Amino acid sequence: TAIKGIDERRLEKLVESFYARVRADDALGPIFNDAINDWPEHLEKLTAFWSSVMLTSGRYKGQPVPAHRKHGERITPELFERWLSLWNSTTAELMEPEAAAALQAKAARIAESLQLALFFKLPD
Ligand code: HEM
Repeated sequence: TAIKGIDERRLEKLVESFYARVRADDALGPIFNDAINDWPEHLEKLTAFWSSVMLTSGRYKGQPVPAHRKHGERITPELFERWLSLWNSTTAELMEPEAAAALQAKAARIAESLQLALFFKLPD
C-alpha cells in the first residue's frame, strides 16, 4: 500500500526540484550537465524510476549500474554523500514527513547498492 503523500504528481515535482538543485551544485552539477543533453527526458526517466520504487508502478525499465559506471572515476563516494544530503534536504522541504522519511530511506539503500557495484574491488 502506497505511503501517504506520495503520488505521481508529487514525485514529478520532487524530481524536477531535486535536479534543479543538482545542476546548481558546484560538485554534482558539472557531471550531470556534461552527461545529460535532454533534460525533459531525464526528468521523465527519473520520475518513472521513483514511481517504480515508491508506487511499484513498474514504469522504469533501465539499468542504473552501467549508466553510472560509464562515468568512471568522475563519480566518487564523496559525491554520493553530497547527492544524498541534497536528496534529504529536498525531500524534507517538499514532502510530508512520512513521505520524506520513506524517500530518504530508499535512496540510502539504493545509493549503498550502487556504490557496492561501482566501487567494491577484490584485492589483486
Ligand atoms: C542516471 C549521476 C546517484 C539514479 C544518472 C546519470 C548521471 C548520474 C550522470 C546519467 C547517465 C547517463 O549518462 O546516461 C549520478 C551521480 C550520483 C548518482 C553523480 C551520485 C554521486 C544516484 C542515486 C540514484 C540514481 C543515489 C538512485 C537513488 C539514477 C537513475 C538514472 C541515473 C535511475 C537513469 C539510468 C538509466 O539511464 O536508466 N546518474 N547519479 N543516481 N541515476 Fe544517478
